[in-house]
Amino acid sequence: MIAGTPFDGVSPAVDREGEVVITTRDLSRSFDDRVAVDALDLDVHAGEVLALLGPNGAGKTTTVRLLNGVLAPDRGETRVFGMDPNTDGIEVRRRTGVLTETAGLDGRLTARENLEFTARMRGLSKAESRRRVDLQLDRFEMHDMAEYRTAGFSTGQRKRLAMARALLHDPEILFLDEPTSGLDPAATRDVTDLIGSLAREHGRTVLLATHFLGEAGRIADRMAVLDHGRLRAIGRPDDLAAELWNGVPADIDLGGPATSEAIAIVASVEGVMRQEARATGLTISVRDRTTMARVLTALTSTGHAVYGASMRRASMEDVYFALEDSPMESFEQVAR
Ligand SMILES: Nc1ncnc2c1ncn2[C@@H]1O[C@H](COP(=O)(O)OP(=O)(O)OP(=O)(O)O)[C@@H](O)[C@H]1O
Ligand SMILES: [Mg+2]
Repeated sequence: MIAGTPFDGVSPAVDREGEVVITTRDLSRSFDDRVAVDALDLDVHAGEVLALLGPNGAGKTTTVRLLNGVLAPDRGETRVFGMDPNTDGIEVRRRTGVLTETAGLDGRLTARENLEFTARMRGLSKAESRRRVDLQLDRFEMHDMAEYRTAGFSTGQRKRLAMARALLHDPEILFLDEPTSGLDPAATRDVTDLIGSLAREHGRTVLLATHFLGEAGRIADRMAVLDHGRLRAIGRPDDLAAELWNGVPADIDLGGPATSEAIAIVASVEGVMRQEARATGLTISVRDRTTMARVLTALTSTGHAVYGASMRRASMEDVYFALEDSPMESFEQVAR
């Protein structure tokens, strides 16, 4: 579905590595007596893909709307490039692209008119708008539909157009609310790959609300899990799995049964939660990847030959259900 040179119209990456471009502090919003977002503290770094996960009604869309300045918080604040989206909304929206849950297209306008309207709203000149609209219509292979009113578009066609619109003005940050729901598998893969490359190769920052755990696990640098508006857990996908499961199992091949010295060395490494002897070495449970690195250093630096080592991966579904089944208090200390 995404044709041509994939990144026409995307300017070279701005080097902002490590810079925090989105922050929220105590960000809270209720609707009547229903709390949608509750004391949310988040930092998103430039070039990062942060996935927002959580069950229906968890507060993902509300968070996106607060970040984009479409909604005002009841309490707390958010900054995007240091600006308050509620008072600097125009500037924030000029530098950010948003794909809303419902696509939000004007059904009376054609695909091209929808895009041109947005381009003009973002402050692009008429000629530049036309150029960029053509570029997006090409990229998303929508030229044959360009002159049709969007009222008659299918869910997937709307999503594609909305994605094209989000990228129209070459934004530095993308807020994507379920960008692949309603897309067929090929289109889903294309959009997921596109999001990944925008971040990795072009330094774009992406906040991605999604229900698709595989997608999140594949392209997200970190995942934030919301529930009832509260941040339940945040971290790298693997670390999150480790945190929720009291450690990730890892196998260490020592070429034979571990000596008591090797067992004692491994036991002394901080973050090792459990170990079990195997015919070829040890199966241990580690808190995170850095623990694993320390174990390997401890063994090799004391003259123990390590023939192989591997951490097992938890599936995203496992992580999700582990969260659902657990009380909130156990997640206060999640790796950041
Ligand atoms: N405009 C609104 N008016 C009233 N209640 C709202 C409004 N927007 C959100 N809510 C409520 O806030 C809570 C969070 O909704 P939100 O749409 O942010 O969840 P979500 O995580 O995006 O869910 P989903 O996965 O279903 O998209 C829900 O209880 C919802 O009913
Ligand atoms: Mg939503």
